[in-house]
Amino acid sequence: MNNYAEVQAKAPIREPERQYYFIEICRKKVQEESERLGRPLTFCVTTFGCQMNARDSEKLAGILEQIGYQPEEEAQADFVIYNTCTVRENANLKVYGHLGLLKHRKKDRPGMRIALCGCMMQEPEVIEKLKKSYRFVDLIFGTHNIFKFAELLAESLARNTQVIDIWQGTDQIVEDLPVERKYSFKSGVNIMFGCNNFCSYCIVPYVRGRERSRKPEDILKEIEALAKDGVTEVMLLGQNVNSYGKTLEDPINFAELLRRVEQIEGIRRIRFMTSHPKDLSDELIEVMRDSKKVCRHLHLPLQSGSTRILKAMNRRYTKEQYLELAQKIRHEIPDISLTTDIIVGFPGETEEDFQETMDVVRQVRYDNAYTFIYSKRTGTPAAGMENQVPEDVTKDRFDRLLALVQELAKEQTARFAGTVQEVLTEEENSHKPGYLTGRMSNNLLVHFPGDKSQIGEYKEVRLEECRGFYYMGSIVNPSAISR
Ligand code: SAH
Ligand code: SF4
Ligand code: F3S
Repeated sequence: MNNYAEVQAKAPIREPERQYYFIEICRKKVQEESERLGRPLTFCVTTFGCQMNARDSEKLAGILEQIGYQPEEEAQADFVIYNTCTVRENANLKVYGHLGLLKHRKKDRPGMRIALCGCMMQEPEVIEKLKKSYRFVDLIFGTHNIFKFAELLAESLARNTQVIDIWQGTDQIVEDLPVERKYSFKSGVNIMFGCNNFCSYCIVPYVRGRERSRKPEDILKEIEALAKDGVTEVMLLGQNVNSYGKTLEDPINFAELLRRVEQIEGIRRIRFMTSHPKDLSDELIEVMRDSKKVCRHLHLPLQSGSTRILKAMNRRYTKEQYLELAQKIRHEIPDISLTTDIIVGFPGETEEDFQETMDVVRQVRYDNAYTFIYSKRTGTPAAGMENQVPEDVTKDRFDRLLALVQELAKEQTARFAGTVQEVLTEEENSHKPGYLTGRMSNNLLVHFPGDKSQIGEYKEVRLEECRGFYYMGSIVNPSAISR
């Protein structure tokens, strides 16, 4: 690869052919290097943030394995990639902390490579900082051009300087690139990218770009292929799945997409993330209620229980509308688990507003709630708002909310004690030898005796002992095998 310009000039224009061409280029280079060292080259992708990032990391791993890299623990890997998140400030701080460690490691291992990608890279201040103080990072790219990973890596391997490629946005969706799944029996499936909601505290629309949906045919084709490959559970991914399909030439809604996914043979469980309350239709509730495959779990982010704060957050629903929706769902699907996200200390939040949030939590009785301290994100409307709430006040509210959430979640979890539930066995229990961990349709975890040959199987498990947020149990009929 002496003349990289020539290599580039010969590349196909069309995707994904272009990326497969660069995978081949990288593969030769990696093979040479590995022959020189007398051992295979290794990689590790470390993921920060949400399910969307986790799925992106599987795509990066897929490309790396085709190139000839082998998976390895981060501490020993020749190539370390951080797929970053920037939704709250501490997500950023974590990445900088890790980078400090990597810098030392790279000094001891000259051949080591480091790449950064993901949401944090879409922020211009971050790129400035990396250019100035983190010259040891070899490759930096963003969320919009992740499909170009092989091409960027080829460039990075050919030139020994820092390669940076960040796009401001894209309407491109490149299909059919390699993917390496973390689990053999379950998988995330992107159904849409980006977000158009612009909740006033949130940086996601700025770093993930405008909402765009994948075509239903492409989604169904991917799920059919997954099913053939042994996947029985899929999680449909998008920042706001309830507005799926709106940007397509032939619009189709999310409820209809679910109906079509339900038809796919071999798929036994369907999950999705995340639902925005403002777009959750009656049709979707009906599809969930009547479906045997859609899981008994709905994540319905509340953010705040105060109508005044919800308005300032640009959430476009009121406390009453949210409560009505939650009641309707509980009425139609009584065995459903409801979970949520809540932000405490949004600018201008008073004790009264906070009490409204506590009130919704008491009324809805969530099975679980993820609580966050408001984090100011540069460039979002809320960052410029007056009345930022003092840290000690926020912390005090956060502690009270967490105590309530945990108390109610324990009670909610306990309601299944003694029942027999279908469980998908996911992994060996890391704390208790001889035990497995499985997930119920409603997303609760249960630990039970078994051996690792049972991973990926569905089992009937009796929930014997509730331990707060999870169960201990045992398989009802150990000899029955069902996949
Ligand atoms: N699209 C999803 C969530 C994306 S971010 C949705 O709308 O539900 C995941 C969660 O992070 C959000 O639900 C919110 O509770 C939290 N979050 C987002 N921005 C935040 C910020 N600036 N400070 C604190 N929490 C935030
Ligand atoms: Fe952020 Fe709101 Fe979009 Fe969720 S819906 S990603 S909270 S802007
Ligand atoms: Fe974080 Fe990006 Fe997800 S900011 S929460 S990784 S979309």
